[in-house]
Amino acid sequence: MEFGLICGQEKRIIRVHMIGETLQIGLVGLGTVGSGVYEALLRNRSLLEARAQISYAVRKIAVRDKSKARDVVIEEGELTDDWRDLVNDEKIDIIIELIGGTTEALKLVRGALEAGKPVVTGNKALLAEYGAELFRLSQSKGVPLYIEASCGGGIPIVQSLQNSLICNRVDSIVGIINGTSNYVLTSMEKSHISFEAALDQAAKKGYAEADSTLDINGWDAAHKGLILAMLAYGTPLDLNAISVSGIEDVQPADFEFAHRLGYTIKLLVVIKRHEEEGTLELRVQPSFVPLDHLLAKVDGVFNAIAVRGDIVGETIFYGRGAGKNPTSSAVLGDVVLAMRECRLLNYHSGFHPYAKETAVLPARETVTPYYVRFRVRDQHGVIADIAAAFARFSIGISATSSQEGETTQTGEPWTHLVFILHACKLGQLGSALEQIEKLDSVVSEPVVFRIETFRES
Ligand code: HSE
Repeated sequence: MEFGLICGQEKRIIRVHMIGETLQIGLVGLGTVGSGVYEALLRNRSLLEARAQISYAVRKIAVRDKSKARDVVIEEGELTDDWRDLVNDEKIDIIIELIGGTTEALKLVRGALEAGKPVVTGNKALLAEYGAELFRLSQSKGVPLYIEASCGGGIPIVQSLQNSLICNRVDSIVGIINGTSNYVLTSMEKSHISFEAALDQAAKKGYAEADSTLDINGWDAAHKGLILAMLAYGTPLDLNAISVSGIEDVQPADFEFAHRLGYTIKLLVVIKRHEEEGTLELRVQPSFVPLDHLLAKVDGVFNAIAVRGDIVGETIFYGRGAGKNPTSSAVLGDVVLAMRECRLLNYHSGFHPYAKETAVLPARETVTPYYVRFRVRDQHGVIADIAAAFARFSIGISATSSQEGETTQTGEPWTHLVFILHACKLGQLGSALEQIEKLDSVVSEPVVFRIETFRES
């Protein structure tokens, strides 16, 4: 049934599906998650239809290569190699985008929203880069964009931020939201192996993607973190505002130092609200996490996200952050929501940005305690020289530790020298390190990790 509706300046025709009609789904992408979604749509049909209170059919599936052999059995005539066939098909009501990438996916999502078709996507890179534009388009068209699968795989964090926790001012979100890097760090810690060996193991087990660059350098977590921040604060955010470093420099020795001090190392996304300054802190980096904190116990490919709200207090969400079935679960949760909302007029629970763009605290202004590891020549006075440089920049030292290293290329012995620093601004630390690196006794660039204290602020 169709209704005319005035939406802002525009008159739109809204299609409302009545009980008894069959809702038509278009699926774009039949890779790991796409085939999981397709299988589950068939396997759990009666359950999903009962819960959505409407019946459905998968009308068309767009794939890159129609001739490719597949594990799933597709009906004759369902496949096309052009997603435009779905966007232009008036009978298709909902589009599920699972192709990844940002070029074709952007055109597809824009096209579908323009055509009035709700979109379900798990494309984190697309949302991190073009989310502000796409959310605006979704809002102005009154057509929902559902994004549960974009963060935390099967963990229902998007709906939780958008609905269950909606009454809260979010004070902070701290999470482990990249499974590959968490698997690598856990293997290094538990099996005492090198970074390279741990990454190799992750690839052999099928956890690491063919190209794991974004997992290792922190940008996959940054994409997801940016999306969580947009949801939590209702504001569009620019991907360039987030400060990101990856796990490439973590060495087995860092775990030994961390354990001695009562910590482990995790790649964390940290999002904090600084109420007085009216800014957000957004960062991703390897961090020391106290061994008695729940996040320290999140191992392997698992993800966990701690959300602190002013009313609810501390919450923590844990589960499988990637993989065919957990991600399909998130996609299908959105599909059922989309199906239900296709039966309602003028309301959708996709993301509605409501706040003005919020300033992001520059990385150099962010304050935490730090762990800094140097490789130094084993000679007298080196600790005193480094400590003096920290003192010149008013940075306090709470502990030092050392461990014998190997020899330099010229055969000289060297030592790992570690400093635990009191909380200071990153900019302050950077200036001190610039001076320290000039010291003759310091062999290579320092490795710097933050220490998360998880103190109530
Ligand atoms: N490469 C991602 C990870 C997959 O390792 O977490 C899920 O986004």
